[in-house]
Amino acid sequence: MSRVSEIMESMEYGPGIEDSSAARGWLAERGAFGHFIAGAFTAPGTTFTTRDPSTGEALAEVTQGTVDDIAAAVAAARKAQPGWAALGGHGRARFLYALARHVQKRERLLAVLETLDNGKPIRESKDIDVPLLARHFYHHAGWAELMESQFPGMSPLGVVGQIIPWNFPLLMLAWKVAPALAAGNTVVLKPAEYTALTALAFAEICREVGLPAGVVNIVTGDGATGAALVEAEVDKIAFTGSTEVGRLIAEMLSGTGRKLTLELGGKSPFIVMPDADLDAAVEGVVDSIWFNQGQVCCAGSRILVAEAVAGRFEALLKARMARLRVGAPLDKSTDVGAIVDPVQKDRILSICRAAVDAGAELVGGQAQEGCFIAPGYLRGVAPTNPGMSQEIFGPIATLSTFRTADEAIELANNTRYGLAASIWSESATVATDLAARVKVGVVWINCANLFDAAAPFGGYRESGYGREGGRAGMLDYLADAAPEAPAAAAPARQVAAPAIDRTMKLYLGGAQKRPDGGAMYAVPGGLAPVAGRKDVRNAVEAAAKAGKWAAMGGHARAQVLYYLAENLAARAGDLAARVGPAEAEAAVAIAFHFAAWADKFDGANVQAKPGHLVNVIPEPFGVIGLRCPDAQPLAGLLSLALPALAMGNAVVAVAAEADPLVLADLVQVLETSDLPGGALNILTGPADDLAAHLAAHEEVAAFWTAGGAGAAIDLAAAGSLKPVWHVPPRDWSAPVAQGEVFLRRAVQMKTVWLPYGA
Ligand code: NAI
Repeated sequence: MSRVSEIMESMEYGPGIEDSSAARGWLAERGAFGHFIAGAFTAPGTTFTTRDPSTGEALAEVTQGTVDDIAAAVAAARKAQPGWAALGGHGRARFLYALARHVQKRERLLAVLETLDNGKPIRESKDIDVPLLARHFYHHAGWAELMESQFPGMSPLGVVGQIIPWNFPLLMLAWKVAPALAAGNTVVLKPAEYTALTALAFAEICREVGLPAGVVNIVTGDGATGAALVEAEVDKIAFTGSTEVGRLIAEMLSGTGRKLTLELGGKSPFIVMPDADLDAAVEGVVDSIWFNQGQVCCAGSRILVAEAVAGRFEALLKARMARLRVGAPLDKSTDVGAIVDPVQKDRILSICRAAVDAGAELVGGQAQEGCFIAPGYLRGVAPTNPGMSQEIFGPIATLSTFRTADEAIELANNTRYGLAASIWSESATVATDLAARVKVGVVWINCANLFDAAAPFGGYRESGYGREGGRAGMLDYLADAAPEAPAAAAPARQVAAPAIDRTMKLYLGGAQKRPDGGAMYAVPGGLAPVAGRKDVRNAVEAAAKAGKWAAMGGHARAQVLYYLAENLAARAGDLAARVGPAEAEAAVAIAFHFAAWADKFDGANVQAKPGHLVNVIPEPFGVIGLRCPDAQPLAGLLSLALPALAMGNAVVAVAAEADPLVLADLVQVLETSDLPGGALNILTGPADDLAAHLAAHEEVAAFWTAGGAGAAIDLAAAGSLKPVWHVPPRDWSAPVAQGEVFLRRAVQMKTVWLPYGA
């Protein structure tokens, strides 16, 4: 027994174990779980055991979902969907409010269950996971209420399959289910195999609030159950998990026309500038990489610290790390709980071993008995070290230094991922400059790992696409309004081909170029070049070098596009002679239209947490690849290329294969315009083949196709995880072809958090 004076001396914590008897009683009453389908629990089938990772103790039996279970759940969701949508925004909002209230009423059960099943500290389940769960349902109840006015003309997608990971079981459920339901979809959700219990508790809450049967269905099981859901008759898959599985899902969905959003892995930079508040930055590391045992997709796992302060920073970090308490997740004073499963513990340790074998030094990070790993970091990590490139997904960061801001950005962006970044500097100028230059979907300035339902979350590059939270998140669960002018019934060519025989060239890097192979093919009115793979590469290279275009800003881009529009108008007669007056007129109108938009497609400042300025900023993707429509070669190309350009992207367009000669006139206009070389590149030839090569290119960040081989493009794009937009066919010469949706598809949202005040 310690004396009071000794306790005062050591400041040792006494144990403060959260009472788990109610949660255990809840589990004992149920014993084994079936799925939640059509508003009722099925009888348990073949089951597996779910365990408390901190003790290994069996918690419950959970059913391994089969293809038939998935089919039954999808059928229930399909049946329920029209009725759910027909309730209208207000009707659905009432259910979402009820869910929010009921999860609040059950917060203790949910928090304790989450900690038992996942191993995360109870402090985090209580203060972060469960409050955010309620927050998401409240926020999305609001979107449901406002749906008709805020998303006019849009409609639900139908049935959505949702696959979630084990690191934030309840929170990921909320991120997926709340927007889907608000938009009028019904869902089949598959929780991760390690952590299904809170999803099943949530199913009970759905029943408790009287949610119509089939609106939410939950099928438990492992990756095979997930794969069955991907192959089922759903209208969209929303996935959060590893990049490897995300890529597999993108490939599986190729050519199906089903929508997909992916929230994948990361290796997020945590940048400490020389003028940072180092004590605050050290707390930021705690919240970044030691929060949830580092099992966080957006964990600041690569600490980059300015050389000038690296010594002091590391000393503070070491001292703080030594004070973190690793132990029983149910203990209220535990900082670092259990890793979710022995498999994950082994994975973390094996990456750390590989990093050490490759020359890094591991500070802390010892494996402990059971599913515990002490917090730690790797130092002396070369850029090629596996510890630097692989997602460790455990409480181990890397620590490296830089000299200049440019070097910090180069290191930060030297990854295939692009989920998040945390930036520490007392200078607003420096911090916002870095925030603009880092290629990620979420930036936290002088803070880390903050989340809110109003703040869109999602990645760039191989961290996935789509957003969760806020208006952007809602849009990913809605179908765009159908084009007002359906595809033109008339054949593409409206005038006879002119008699003069003409030979056009490719347009690459701002100059007319012969195709690499030198071959030409006959088209109405003359000859067009047959582009090959080398031309595709050259075009992408030219586009990638046109970064200046994005940097010009909206006003300057608008001026260039207005000038282009004027020049097009001056050539309208020539253009009309080739494609007819309607399409020529449309081309000019489209050019003026998107010139007007260039400085007006705004982001938003959203109400996330009080005391935080949270800006959602539309940024260009970089290089966008286009497969233009076969009909209306001029209006079609401009309808796609100009919104992409207006938003600051560079474009490589595969032109209409059969009838591209009007583009020779367009190229002449481009040559006399101020558009920087490489901002727009035009290829002609075998369109499907060229499009597939373009879609596979690593430097192409997004792809739009308005015709041709959709499946081949999807498959090619899946390899490097780029979003593909299948642009619905329309009459490209109709003025209504020019919609705001084209601008939305031309940007990715960056959410920047900046706390204000001291
Ligand atoms: P995972 O990607 O295999 O699991 C995530 C979810 O996908 C689970 O529900 C799983 O059952 C399901 N799934 C697995 N294979 C599937 C398939 N073929 N089709 C459909 N669904 C499938 O991740 P895992 O194996 O649990 O963890 C491995 C690594 O992945 C971690 O160490 C970490 O690096 C990363 N990860 C990243 C997450 C993130 O939030 N970005 C979350 C979980 C894991």
